[in-house]
Amino acid sequence: MSARTSIAPGRSGRHPAADPSPAQPAHSLDHGEVAARLLAWFDRHGRVDLPWQHPRTPYRVWLSEIMLQQTQVSVVTGYFNRFVSALPDLPTLARASQDEVLALWSGLGYYARARNLHATAKLCMERHGGDLPRDLDALIALPGIGRSTAGAILTQAWNDRAPILDGNVKRVLCRLFGIDGWPGTPAVEKKLWSIAAALLPQARLADWTQAQMDFGATLCTRVSPACAICPLQDVCVARREGRIAELPTAKPGKQLPQRETQMLIAQDPEGRVLLWRRPPTGIWASLWSLPQHEDADEAQAWFDRHLDGDFASARALPALEHGFTHFRLRIHPWLIAVNGPHAAIGDNAGLRWTSRAELAAIGLPAPVRKLLQERTE
Ligand code: ADE
Ligand code: SF4
Repeated sequence: MSARTSIAPGRSGRHPAADPSPAQPAHSLDHGEVAARLLAWFDRHGRVDLPWQHPRTPYRVWLSEIMLQQTQVSVVTGYFNRFVSALPDLPTLARASQDEVLALWSGLGYYARARNLHATAKLCMERHGGDLPRDLDALIALPGIGRSTAGAILTQAWNDRAPILDGNVKRVLCRLFGIDGWPGTPAVEKKLWSIAAALLPQARLADWTQAQMDFGATLCTRVSPACAICPLQDVCVARREGRIAELPTAKPGKQLPQRETQMLIAQDPEGRVLLWRRPPTGIWASLWSLPQHEDADEAQAWFDRHLDGDFASARALPALEHGFTHFRLRIHPWLIAVNGPHAAIGDNAGLRWTSRAELAAIGLPAPVRKLLQERTE
């Protein structure tokens, strides 16, 4: 994902032809097909040797899910193994002293998790005969178990049908279905829960839960999702619309790092605009966009090499801000009239002259479309 870090084109401004087919209609994909494809992906790439999967008991699944709430797998495994060696089942945990439980948790952080774990073990002795309850509402009633953790326990411990919705799953669903709005908003969260429920397969529920977690953690990652090898790439709304870096929507008011970029709106005498195709990875992968540069000097150097005109006559338009999940982009547009390309530069795989009428049919990043519509009429 080397192209991620730079949002400006390389020196040549040209890129090999990619095959994004942005204007091509997506196949509509039913929910059963999404689950089937993700399970097939899981069979080839999923994690099947995590310590809590062997043996997969309700106690071990629950303990792992609590540890994994705020801590990543690589850190959890060692703690998990020590914990189950010392306290191998729920009644043993219930009888342990709080000091022993906290000592086993020491270093994992978020110690309320350990206290809740201990309290839940005692409650299960009182209420549920020494076992975790095999019931969504009864699980949610226990300290430290929310709806997603309860779903993760039911599916993995008993293969029962229940959705999960952790941060990874939220991100994947927002992208796949093109869901706008911060996922912490109740209305958005509600929509995501209903999609998560609709996607549930009829069988293999434990694998389904693990598949979603593994997919979010290793393939559809926050900053650099591997869309080029994604089994859902042809049906993903964010991919089709060039909105991978915008979804899920960031929390309103969140301070994100700001990046700057220069965009050239070069118009020839017929009013056609020069478009530049973005590289196949990174933000707006393979979409047509405007020639883009880190700073004005670089923009001028590129202009002088590629176009016939006078960069000094370029008019700076008001900047435009666009929000991505992990940064904000401030776009500085330059409107400039050109006579045309230098002799060597015509339409090619990476550059094309486009009329106003043609623009509507081309897959453009949202802020670029806005820029071309509002700022250059
Ligand atoms: N995060 C929460 N539960 C998990 C699991 N079962 N595997 C990997 N990451 C997780
Ligand atoms: Fe995620 Fe990319 Fe796959 Fe869409 S195509 S689900 S954004 S990895």
